Amino acid sequence: MKIRFTLTRVASVVLMAGVLAISVTGKSAFGQQPALKNAYKNDFLIGVAINQRQFTGQDTNGAALVKAQFNSISPENVLKWEAVHPRPGADGYNFDPADRYVEFGEKNGMAIIGHTLVWHSQTPRWVFQGDGTNALDRDTLLQRMRDHIHTVVGRYKGRIKGWDVVNEALYDNGTLRQSQWLKIIGEDYIAKAFEYAHEADPDAELHYNDYSLETEAKRNGAIALIKKLQGQGIHVTGIGSQDHVKMDWPTTEQVDATLTALGKLGVKVMITELDVDVLSARGQNRSADVAEVQRQTTPNIYTNGLPDSVQQALAQRYADLFGVFLKHRDVVSRVTFWGVTDGDSWLNRGRQNHPLLFDRKWQPKPAFDALIEAARKAGGGR
Ligand code: XIL
Repeated sequence: MKIRFTLTRVASVVLMAGVLAISVTGKSAFGQQPALKNAYKNDFLIGVAINQRQFTGQDTNGAALVKAQFNSISPENVLKWEAVHPRPGADGYNFDPADRYVEFGEKNGMAIIGHTLVWHSQTPRWVFQGDGTNALDRDTLLQRMRDHIHTVVGRYKGRIKGWDVVNEALYDNGTLRQSQWLKIIGEDYIAKAFEYAHEADPDAELHYNDYSLETEAKRNGAIALIKKLQGQGIHVTGIGSQDHVKMDWPTTEQVDATLTALGKLGVKVMITELDVDVLSARGQNRSADVAEVQRQTTPNIYTNGLPDSVQQALAQRYADLFGVFLKHRDVVSRVTFWGVTDGDSWLNRGRQNHPLLFDRKWQPKPAFDALIEAARKAGGGR
């Protein structure tokens, strides 16, 4: 009798604890999902680009997901020139959001990435403007670049682990993009950017970052660029392949060939901006150039959620990609997703895209399960 009573009490306490656990963790019970960062802990860091609502905690569900699932963060926008240094001069900086971003990463013990120092996009006009009617000269632009890099990298010295120093300097044919940086400074603007970043934080990892490296001509251009920098004794420690991919482009063979080739450079290789655009097909929208993407009109066909067949195909696409990343785990040091949930993704732009592992209600999609399963299958010996 006594025993039965005790058992009943034990059972009800266990039940209560269960109910409590669910209500404490919230509707989505984030704590109860397996974590990507643990599943891949012997392989590479699992990162995510985060926005201001997430790192300030305003988006509570988003912040909880980031903490539960990822061990590295990238700033989706707050460290870009236009955000951190909108106006000229020493008082033209706006560090508040970036400071909060870095604090969030530190509080949660994450590998914090800086993105990005020198880019043709999201850079204010004044950076390239001369006095009055005079065109800007090389030395003045170099000085502006040096001040910016020293101030921003210096502020987070020892706290930001790695920087995307130069972003998207190449065209798809592998030649140097005719950006204002190139036109005003000349080809050595890239080496200079790396030199200044290295001066500002000698221990920081310094990356070159670009998209569509699976296109052979562009990949060869990137490899030639890194080799040239290495030949000049420039401190470049990593190459980032953005991997804003489609369902059918690039093929896993192309991703495999790219990682093999980049792996031979002797620097860390990172997948830095992974997402899978389910609304664009091969040949369309291959550029990550913001203006170009915006001009594209892709049919907005999945406004009521993703049909099950596409959901499964997306899961398979992610599993295939991670199969290749795992194959190259000796050189791949990090895989970062460009956004937390589908609702956060830059690929929406007036359409409803579904490129990530979590849906608009912060729930894991079949693609998430597929990646946990892929890690489990890869199993022992890792
Ligand atoms: C994107 C952001 O996600 C958007 O919020 C912003 O409006 C435009 O830039 N390549 C990069 C990233 O290196 O910085 C871009 O991020 C996506 C393409």
